Amino acid sequence: MTIEAPERVNVRIREAVDADWEEAGRICYEAFASLADQHGFPHDFPTVAAAAEPIRWLINHPRVYSVVAERDGRVVGSNFLDERGTISAIGPISVDPASQDRHVGRLLMDAVLARARERQAPGVRLLQIAYHNRSLSLYAKLGMQVRGAFAAMHGAPILERLPGYDVRPATMDDEEVMNALCVRVHGHARAGEVREAIDAGSARVVQHLGRISGYTTRISYFAHSVAETNVDLRALISEAEDFGTPGFLVPLENADLFRWCLDRGLRVFFVTNMMTLGLYQEPEGAYLPSVGY
Ligand SMILES: CC(C)(COP(=O)(O)OP(=O)(O)OC[C@H]1O[C@@H](n2cnc3c(N)ncnc32)[C@H](O)[C@@H]1OP(=O)(O)O)[C@@H](O)C(=O)NCCC(=O)NCCS
Repeated sequence: MTIEAPERVNVRIREAVDADWEEAGRICYEAFASLADQHGFPHDFPTVAAAAEPIRWLINHPRVYSVVAERDGRVVGSNFLDERGTISAIGPISVDPASQDRHVGRLLMDAVLARARERQAPGVRLLQIAYHNRSLSLYAKLGMQVRGAFAAMHGAPILERLPGYDVRPATMDDEEVMNALCVRVHGHARAGEVREAIDAGSARVVQHLGRISGYTTRISYFAHSVAETNVDLRALISEAEDFGTPGFLVPLENADLFRWCLDRGLRVFFVTNMMTLGLYQEPEGAYLPSVGY
């Protein structure tokens, strides 16, 4: 069998501007949807708007580095580097289906990795959808290492109360304790995201025996949670009003929590791999990552 080498295309990588969000959002939707269709999976983003809104948010966020690839003056792909924490998070990366497999993705990855090096970011991470063979291979070729597998869990909210574990909205007074907990579990804080989630009213803390034993910036694919134990995490998950699509990410090595989710009727949307480059420390505690890390 002969496999033809794909023809490369001439693209220019530049920083994204607000005017790019609609086209970059449409491409993000199409790129993920076409891959999901090929593999018989449901769409990650149910509509074009569901993909375009986060792209618009990312392009306009002052602490996110955004790039687009242009071919003959037209946007054909985009990528992002979330610089809100010690660790920078890559993605979502997407290339117009008509321009895929021609090294545009590699150039978009090179651009954000160059930025991370320039800023001396201690580490970069992402969560990669496990059935996407091409992105898995591309990231590995760029030096990234798989650290673990995570199931996106979705379904009806659980809406249970765990006696002795009180969940309440987080306030600015909790910020320091939340960041300290994250440092204890992961070795670094995610202070930028924590501050934004408190401001937005989506952050929750769980209190057990009179002290904060866990927090979530939201139980969702796009947010993270850190706790001392699985019971703290269960309390946070149990009180969430919805999980969104494709659902929140559960480490598969945390077999107890994964089974607990299944026992509560939640379903696996797909499995993702965490991939890292640079600083990485095995977590010491219970946690749910975001799609970034
Ligand atoms: C993932 C994506 C951004 C990659 O962009 P792309 O332009 O198609 O990819 P590229 O051509 O730059 O790179 C693909 C690399 O993987 C290699 N590759 C592709 N399929 C492979 C496979 N099955 N096994 C091994 N290597 C493979 C290619 O040879 C190429 O490597 P090279 O640069 O050393 O030649 C693009 O396919 C896309 O938009 N996919 C849909 C959205 C998505 O999956 N986003 C990532 C979510 S985790």
